[in-house]
Amino acid sequence: MKKNNQNNIWGCNKLKMLPRLLCINDYEQHAKSTLQKSIYDYYRSGANDQETLADNMAAFSRWKLYPRMLRNVAEIDLSTSILGQKVSMPICAGATAMQCMAHEDGELATVRACRSLGTGMMLSTWATCSIEEVAEAGPEALRWLQLYIYKDREVTKQLVRRAERMGYKAIFVTVDTPYLGNRFDDVRNRFKLPPQLRVKARCFSSVPGQFKEEKSDDAREAVKHGLDGILVSNHGARQLDGVPATIDALPEIVEAVEGKVEVFLDGGVRKGTDVLKALALGARAVFVGRPIIWGLAFQGEKGVQDVLRILKEEFRLAMALSGCQNVKVIDKTLVRKNPLAVSKI
Ligand code: LAC
Repeated sequence: MKKNNQNNIWGCNKLKMLPRLLCINDYEQHAKSTLQKSIYDYYRSGANDQETLADNMAAFSRWKLYPRMLRNVAEIDLSTSILGQKVSMPICAGATAMQCMAHEDGELATVRACRSLGTGMMLSTWATCSIEEVAEAGPEALRWLQLYIYKDREVTKQLVRRAERMGYKAIFVTVDTPYLGNRFDDVRNRFKLPPQLRVKARCFSSVPGQFKEEKSDDAREAVKHGLDGILVSNHGARQLDGVPATIDALPEIVEAVEGKVEVFLDGGVRKGTDVLKALALGARAVFVGRPIIWGLAFQGEKGVQDVLRILKEEFRLAMALSGCQNVKVIDKTLVRKNPLAVSKI
């Protein structure tokens, strides 16, 4: 496949001087200017009017930080564990589909970057590199598989077996996708996977109704079924529009599970202060989806490293400025809903 070609799906700016990108939004702007429009739109879009898409980010601003002063913050320890596995920070790569559209190395670049930052990666069922290829690219990396439950249970079982065989440490079962959400941009752009790419994690179908709905209706039900954790997610606001922002839903879920399982969050995390707020409201760790894509689009593995490093350093600074030496001392006294955003009616 030709590189640095105007028709290349990975953009045409590779030979130009690279800009200095300082925050996740800079990476998104850069991706917007280099990726093919239909590909950028696919990653960026939410469902329907994208109310939830906007709210996932806006909701973080409604929660205000109440930092502690006069603490010794000379050393800050960001490390934690996720489902028993040690990570250098509570920020991991979430599952996003078809990463080879953003960079030719796709999921292989992501797993390598996660490994070098000492954090975990969740591989999408709709990945453009296989479960085995990703494991081989990051044998030491902490990897999990995001799983759709297919009508054909044998297909589903095979995915789980392959993940187990290749050392993936957990399966994140997606329960919000009995049908794919309606994303207007994809319809307008007649989006489809570029012909040179393939969904290799396997069993891809874009036919609505392919997925059978799984009942795991609420957090308590999930605990009853013996799950080890819950990821509070609205699928990047790509499924049912109008659902709450994940950061607003988090406190209720944390309360409902009464500490019996680990709770994680994704959706709208773009800054270190977002991570701090999520942890203060009870998340054990956060997953980032689109920021990984913007990093990939910039410079593959290095771009993903940059993005993870930015989030890590922003989180470190947010902890230091809030008087938190380690993640264990982050608690709900650090955040309150902005009183102006709470209705008086
Ligand atoms: C999506 C599916 C593939 O949101 O997760 O596009």
